[in-house]
Amino acid sequence: MIVYHNGRFLPKDEVYLSPDDRGFLFGDGAYEVVRASKGRLFRAAAHWQRLQHSLSAIEIQYPTPTEQLDHVAAALLNQNQLAAAEATVYLQVTRGVALRKHSYPHPPVATTVYGFAAPFVPPREKCQAGVGVITVPDQRWSRCDLKVISLLPNVLANQQAQAAGAQEAVFVRDGVITEGSHTNFAAVREGALLTHPESCVILSGITRRAVLELCDELHVPILEVPLRESELESVDEAMLLGTTSDVMPVIRINEQQIGVGRPGPVTRRLQQAFHELFTRETSPNPDSHLEPPNRSRRCEEADSPEL
Ligand SMILES: Cc1ncc(COP(=O)(O)O)c(C=O)c1O
Repeated sequence: MIVYHNGRFLPKDEVYLSPDDRGFLFGDGAYEVVRASKGRLFRAAAHWQRLQHSLSAIEIQYPTPTEQLDHVAAALLNQNQLAAAEATVYLQVTRGVALRKHSYPHPPVATTVYGFAAPFVPPREKCQAGVGVITVPDQRWSRCDLKVISLLPNVLANQQAQAAGAQEAVFVRDGVITEGSHTNFAAVREGALLTHPESCVILSGITRRAVLELCDELHVPILEVPLRESELESVDEAMLLGTTSDVMPVIRINEQQIGVGRPGPVTRRLQQAFHELFTRETSPNPDSHLEPPNRSRRCEEADSPEL
């Protein structure tokens, strides 16, 4: 396996990572995961923009042009014989190597950049049949809009889901459903799509944004409102949205069946539309693609987590 490390492509077992790396010691860094199909990245620009957003919010300087990140991703796919396959590209940037001290190294040190590409099998069966999820208390911090590598609460929650035989753990903060451990969450009630508004308590998912665009196209009303866990009884459909989950129907939450216990019609339409969008945008001559509308909220200005 050929990986990317600080500007070089090299076999994975030749990578040296320092034990003093702040990513290792503090989880001090940010990352992205991008889907690729036959060598073409899905919405790479949005992913790189989100990486920049995460890095600048945690004050890591990584002013790399997005064309260069596209080039790194393409090279990883090519050098690992993944240019004709379904794959994901992972890219992580940490604050770099310095003796352990909480505050930033002074003077600043070079960032550590690590990337790899991996084969990906789209979760077709789960998307067809639907999955069960559990709810767990949202014990994360109040900047969940940042895709940072310190993911311990997500790891613990996802493990809890796995132990319970569920696909995903969906976080509940102050009674409100925020998102999953590695997915966004949406529900359908009376034909409208409900999803938590963009804020500091969810990641602005690339899949979520694409699905909101599709709702506009398909005339599915969108309600970006907090949904309380106690309201789950009233929803007709639910779904997980994410780079490695696509549009995945949720048919059970804890012990509660959602709707009729099968993927519902709005989820099916969005799945189909998302599949077409993904295929179109990762085809050799994609139709020109407009950047999605900017629905984001400014977390830096918030006094407290917004729900
Ligand atoms: C916490 C969290 N929310 C949502 C998502 C979905 O985001 P995207 O669609 O960009 O993959 C992810 C993806 O990993 C995530 O980690």
